[in-house]
Amino acid sequence: MAEINLRIGTEYENGELIYMNATGSRAVFICGKRGSGKSYTMGVIVEELFNQEQGEATIIIADPMGIYHTMALPNQTQADEVRHAGFLTSGFPVRLIVPGDPLVRYGDAAVLTKLRENGVEVVPLQINASDLSPEAWCELFDIGMNEAMGIVLWRAVDTLLEKAPHFNIDSILAAIEEDPRAKDTSKEALENRLTAANRWGIFAQEPTSLSDVFLLNQINVLDLSVIDAGTKGLRNMVLDVVSQRLFTERTRERRREEFGLSTKLPRVWLAIDEAHQFVPKGRASLCKEMLIRWVKEGRQPGLSLVVATQQPAAIDPELLSQCDVIVAHKITTWDDINALDRLSATYMEGDLKGYIRNLNRRGEALLVDDETESVTTIRIRPRFSSHGGAEIQEKTVRKFLF
Ligand SMILES: Nc1ncnc2c1ncn2[C@@H]1O[C@H](COP(=O)(O)OP(=O)(O)OP(=O)(O)O)[C@@H](O)[C@H]1O
Ligand SMILES: [Mg+2]
Repeated sequence: MAEINLRIGTEYENGELIYMNATGSRAVFICGKRGSGKSYTMGVIVEELFNQEQGEATIIIADPMGIYHTMALPNQTQADEVRHAGFLTSGFPVRLIVPGDPLVRYGDAAVLTKLRENGVEVVPLQINASDLSPEAWCELFDIGMNEAMGIVLWRAVDTLLEKAPHFNIDSILAAIEEDPRAKDTSKEALENRLTAANRWGIFAQEPTSLSDVFLLNQINVLDLSVIDAGTKGLRNMVLDVVSQRLFTERTRERRREEFGLSTKLPRVWLAIDEAHQFVPKGRASLCKEMLIRWVKEGRQPGLSLVVATQQPAAIDPELLSQCDVIVAHKITTWDDINALDRLSATYMEGDLKGYIRNLNRRGEALLVDDETESVTTIRIRPRFSSHGGAEIQEKTVRKFLF
């Protein structure tokens, strides 16, 4: 297999190019205070992966802010910086994957038209009711598995899973209705919740095949911003189902590879922005267990993870301890500095705290790489493609003011 080296920036003092080796499976942790450049850096890593993997890996960004579709456009606002660094600006083929019906989710046909004009391919993602375990169904509605309602729901989903590979919400409703042991109050309460879930438009009769949704020759942006963050666990549920299916499929494909058979799904890179939402410390989340498994057992099936967060202290320490590359931008809060400091490795001369204190500007970061056992202060290279988020907000504010 060819060596994959990501050009993520230059050494702070001597300007030498700095690479991150991505030949094998890796777990990358990006952190820094608000506006320090985390999402931008995640974009740099994704650009490099896309250019270097040449269709050999599926690249997915879980995007809770809805900012990565701009990667379809070249970075015009920083064109001089890009040229100065010796690169060319360019847009990338972006596939925007929207849970549910894109028109319903955006609620605006004009937005869809604009996205398509920018060259973004917009596709729906639908999941089948059978993709969720009985436990996950209870968690989705925040119902305890030992509560009367939880027991009924668990039993209905479990029975259906035994009988058929796929089913829909109507089948769960029917199974609950027919359950002689369920009380009417439980039935009615569950009926309300399941009818509401049907309206989300995310559950489909037939499951979508992941190899039809996530493509190798595009950057796959899973737009989670279209799901209201307040909707209990729904974003986490989508990421749970996607990561679970990718994990299972990759494990199966890996076995085929061992026998020299062809595979439909090669290596997978999953990048998650605002990762504290998905793998929070000290509380459960629908996708937490799966993502921890992804980093712990992903090496063999070729699953890599990139996570970004403002709050290292708010991320589950089990996931953090598995990360073998840290890209730390400026951090100022004590809790977060200490959470990061706990990851200090033996090969560091000082503690991470000391290094972090020396970072000043946006785009500066500390690169800690367990593979090379090195700690380097770097400047992240400028993005080839347009960075969403802050730029869009600035433009909107300007338009608003003048
Ligand atoms: N390496 C860089 N070179 C040039 N500009 C950068 C760089 N990194 C970040 N920026 C600029 O800084 C701003 C903030 O970056 P970004 O959106 O990545 O911050 P963030 O850390 O993700 O913030 P938040 O916590 O709000 O998500 C953007 O306008 C971006 O264009
Ligand atoms: Mg960000």
